[in-house]
Parts: sequence; structure tokens; C-alpha cells
Amino acid sequence: MKDRTDAILQPRQADYLDGLLPPREPLLAALEEAAAAEGVPISDPEVGLLLEILARGVCRDRRGHLLEIGTAIGYGTLRLARGAEAARVTSIEFDPMRLERARDLLERAGVGDRVELLEGRALDVLPTLDGPFDLVYIDAVKTEYRAYLDLVLPKLVLGGLVVLDNLLWKGWVADPPPDAARDDATEALRAVNGYLTRHPALRALVLPHGDGLGVAVRIV
Ligand code: DHB
Ligand code: MG
Repeated sequence: MKDRTDAILQPRQADYLDGLLPPREPLLAALEEAAAAEGVPISDPEVGLLLEILARGVCRDRRGHLLEIGTAIGYGTLRLARGAEAARVTSIEFDPMRLERARDLLERAGVGDRVELLEGRALDVLPTLDGPFDLVYIDAVKTEYRAYLDLVLPKLVLGGLVVLDNLLWKGWVADPPPDAARDDATEALRAVNGYLTRHPALRALVLPHGDGLGVAVRIV
């Protein structure tokens, strides 16, 4: 969720694109409203929709396995599960209260049986996962993104996708406020953008979508 609608795009472009988004199912709409009211960071609706589209694209009619790093309250998890209707989704979250909310949401959405929620620090949990994964969505601790990428790449199928949220980080990555030197996340994400887009195993770009979205495919 963006703090400001003009953080990445000009407001008129952002509003216009918002108007093109299809309506969300009631559970997702309620989650968007609750997250905005409570200040819980969830992915932007346009990012959620792209996750659905990409999940469906990588899984097609096959059963696939999708991984989300940073469940929060389950918004992205449900988007991935809706996109790929036969896929398994594994999602990692550090905060047990948020994870409980996600569990409740996913049960009510009827996808609880194919979603596995793992509680813990992603850096501890990732080495315990086997994969292979068809798509990995990175959306947890911003200063750990590079480490997540290094840990998941060997577990990503060739042709599999990595999607990374918040790569333009409220606009600060490209346009730092005067005190940005004290924002570790901004510095870390700027470094990740360079690492990602030059990674020899990936073909990658950063889109001005949501809060800045990285999309990469594993090529070797
Ligand atoms: C924050 C984190 C996110 O992953 C996001 O999408 C938006 C905001 C945050 O911590 O402020
Ligand atoms: Mg995010």
C-alpha cells in the first residue's frame, strides 16, 4: 500500500489506472479497507492483480508451487492462490498475530487446504524449504531482500519468476528526502535494484507499478 498516491506516478495517471482495476471479491475489498484503516502494509491492488496474472501464467493447468516471503495478513497470499487454482502456496511471516489473521482469511476464502503458512524469520525458514518454486514473491524485511534473493534463486525453476514489492519505496529510492541517509531500507532497496537488474541468472526489470515492482525470470 502506497503512503501517497503520487509517490511513484503522477496523481492523474495513478487515479486513471485505479479506475481500470476490476472490482475485488468482498474478502479482498474488506482486507484493503481494514489495512488502510489500521495502517497494516499490504500490497497495492494493482500488485495483487499482477500476482494473480503471473501465478496463472506460470502454473497454467499444472499444479505449481508458489512462495511468498512476508504474509502480513494474507492479501498477497490470497491473490496468488486465486491466480493459480491448483497450486500450492507457501508463505512465511514473522508476526504470529498477523499470521493468525491470514490463516482465518484463507480458511474463509476456501483455500486453506493448499496454503501452508510458516511462522518465523524468513532468513531462518528459507534454508529449510525444498522447492522447486514456480514463482517467489518477496515482500518482507526490506534490508533482507538481497539475502532472500540469494536463498531462493537455487530453488526457483528455470523460467520461474521472482516478484519483489516496494522497490521504489514510497518514491525515496529514486528521489531521497534530505534525511534518507538514515533510512536503511531505502539504501538497501537501491542496492537490490542494481543487483537484481544485473544478475547473471536473471532477466529483470523494475516497473513503476504499485510502490515499484521488480519482475524477473530465471534464465540459467
Ligand atoms: C511497508 C511495507 C510494505 O511491504 C509495503 O508494501 C508498504 C509499506 C512499510 O513497512 O511501510
Ligand atoms: Mg510490500
